[in-house]
Amino acid sequence: MTSLQLAASTLTDAFGRVARDLRVSLTDRCNLRCTYCMPADGLAWFPTEDVLTDDEVVRVIGIAVERLGVEKLRFTGGEPLLRIGLEGIIAATKQLRTARGVAPETSLTTNGVGLDKRVKGLAAAGLDRVNVSLDSLDRERYAALARRDRLPDVLAGLAAAEAAGLTPVKVNAVVMRGVNEADVVPLAAFCLARRYQLRFIEQMPLGPKHEWDRSKMVTQAELLALLGEHYRLSPAVEARGAAPAEVWQVEADADQPGGRIGVIASVTAPFCGACDRTRITADGQLRTCLFSTRETDLRGRFGLARTTNSWPRCGRAAMPRRRRPTASANPASPNPSAP
Ligand code: 5AD
Ligand code: SF4
Repeated sequence: MTSLQLAASTLTDAFGRVARDLRVSLTDRCNLRCTYCMPADGLAWFPTEDVLTDDEVVRVIGIAVERLGVEKLRFTGGEPLLRIGLEGIIAATKQLRTARGVAPETSLTTNGVGLDKRVKGLAAAGLDRVNVSLDSLDRERYAALARRDRLPDVLAGLAAAEAAGLTPVKVNAVVMRGVNEADVVPLAAFCLARRYQLRFIEQMPLGPKHEWDRSKMVTQAELLALLGEHYRLSPAVEARGAAPAEVWQVEADADQPGGRIGVIASVTAPFCGACDRTRITADGQLRTCLFSTRETDLRGRFGLARTTNSWPRCGRAAMPRRRRPTASANPASPNPSAP
């Protein structure tokens, strides 16, 4: 294949960034109501007929992997465990082969509720890894934040994921001022002891409209200061690549084995320059950036059900509209989505 053909068969934007990592939302629904993500009453969910069917999801992914150079797949929501066909979708995508001749890497971003009952099936289907959201180890704080008393289920899910070999288990935590700062060090201790990879995520302006308040967001600098009171931290040495998390090495001491902790500083230190991600919503919209308000309809307008050419065509057409790599997360942007 010539370099021209190669370029034409990837999702490359105007700044030369190639989308190798595709995030596929399998449902907009969720069984939690995290305050930073959803209103207490939930959202106006997509009507069932608007959500891509299992076959359509697999077809969209198949084109992305086999024709557009995507190598990593992350299944998200809402809560992807609510998707009944999840195991079947994963198994089908694991049959695909990338241009390098290997199956795509697969991971699941989940709130962990009910994960313990599904891990065996997920691992058997070929799932490689999980990212579990966990913002507090205090049952009351967790229940207040997620508006559901489900901490024990999440902890069971984490343990089951580890036991099933879905490793390294990653844990995502969002910290908000006056809400769960007291959880930063306990979460670090919990994850270091179990060798889970903890990543703190700066709260982004993505949830309910008018909810985000920059002054409530706990920044990367503050997180490092809090952690620095208990641990000796040094920047990890290896190249960061397209990873959104900046990683710190935590030195072992008498109380804990050491390890790594990441911070995804989407607001104070955006990583757009190296971003290799693109997304598909549960209703089949291609969204080339998390902060984008523009979507390209893969099913309706181009008739995904009728033609497999529509996705490559509109995927390539949408990529040049991605924002400049230096752009920062714009708190004013009314983003319609939860991640
Ligand atoms: N800011 C930062 N992270 C968020 N998440 C959900 N909403 C936000 C937000 N507004 C996180 C969840 C989960 C992942 C999918 O994204 O906690 O870990
Ligand atoms: Fe559900 Fe995740 Fe949003 Fe929490 S952050 S409400 S778990 S989709």
